[in-house]
Amino acid sequence: MNLIQTRGPAGRAGSAPVAARYAAVRGRTEALAAPLSAEDQCIQSMPDASPAKWHRAHTTWFFETFLLVPHLAGYRRFDDRFGFLFNSYYEAAGPRHARPRRGMLTRPSAAEVTDYRAHVDEGMAALLRDPLPEAAVLVELGLQHEEQHQELLLTDILHALSQNPLLPPYDPDWREPPAATGEAGWLTLPEGLAEIGHAGPGFAFDNEAPRHRTWVAGCRVADRLVSNGAWLAFMAEGGYRTPTLWMSEGWAACAAEGWEAPLHWHRRGEGWMQYTPNGLRPLDPAAPVRHISWYEAEAFARWAGKRLPTEQEWEVASALPGFRDATGIGWQWTNSAYLPYPGFRPWEGAVGEYNGKFMINQMVLRGGSLATPPGHARPSYRNFFPPGARWQFSAVRLAEDAP
Ligand code: AVJ
Ligand code: FE
Repeated sequence: MNLIQTRGPAGRAGSAPVAARYAAVRGRTEALAAPLSAEDQCIQSMPDASPAKWHRAHTTWFFETFLLVPHLAGYRRFDDRFGFLFNSYYEAAGPRHARPRRGMLTRPSAAEVTDYRAHVDEGMAALLRDPLPEAAVLVELGLQHEEQHQELLLTDILHALSQNPLLPPYDPDWREPPAATGEAGWLTLPEGLAEIGHAGPGFAFDNEAPRHRTWVAGCRVADRLVSNGAWLAFMAEGGYRTPTLWMSEGWAACAAEGWEAPLHWHRRGEGWMQYTPNGLRPLDPAAPVRHISWYEAEAFARWAGKRLPTEQEWEVASALPGFRDATGIGWQWTNSAYLPYPGFRPWEGAVGEYNGKFMINQMVLRGGSLATPPGHARPSYRNFFPPGARWQFSAVRLAEDAP
């Protein structure tokens, strides 16, 4: 398994001493959950989303199952029944509770999950005093995994709280992230061979490797994200009512789900407001649009006379000067199906189920969002969701073929 290409000076993964990094990541999850009541933490608003309490427990189960049970002599599980509740999708780790029913778990309580986290943190403290190299790489994977769930926790709680007609704020101190505004400039990619994929140093998921050569056709990639104002123009010109702009499946989804604006937009009088982590706010036309499905992004691009970039184009363009808002606002849909790179090999063992088995029926998103933990993403990072998914902090960057 090659989770980490280089090691820190102490021979440990990452830059911070691993125990300090472990404490920081685990603490950040608890900080994100801190504004939530026990009731908030229990609800599941749709099958794709998970309760905050479940995220807190599942990330803990990951350390218990893949680190403590195999690598800490004498470790005792907090509760033998938790594997069934908090295993997400690992066939190798045994049977599990059905994903759409995670919101039915009023027990264990949020307080018991806090105790579960403390128990596993104690075991991890013992393990981290002198981790074997095989365990050290899995610790870093466990931390990267927990960071992914931090974003999912925020995304899912926004969706859960959005079901409440009072539209409560998740955090009254939350502010919109600043973004590049105005007319998009264009970055030119010349035709030719390029290299993409992770080559170190540092951590990467298995799906980012191997680094390999790819052919880029001449094209131009927008230097920033599509704005709410541009999206309003698409809506005003009947974008949501014009089937010829849409993929067949996308048009079916649009009709079946009654889409007429991005997710989390609310009509108020003549205009629109947006439900944000700080509750309902006026929609800023200059800010990048978010909570867009791939189907909508692709229809918008057709309406604009453009297209979505491929993931190869995105990665090459992201290295150019002037490429704005790669991360920090919204993940950017690409026109690339989520497939293995040439020569891809999943990690060995149970964690081989982490990414590889999902390489079907999903599209790649690149970049990072306002919910992505700082330092988590990188240019080779491949996020992925089904084309109809709208609840992520997903945005749009356009491209066009060379004139
Ligand atoms: C990369 C965000 C699609 O949501 O399942 C969490 C992240 N992988 N636990 C997902 C993940 C394992 C993954 N996404
Ligand atoms: Fe997970």
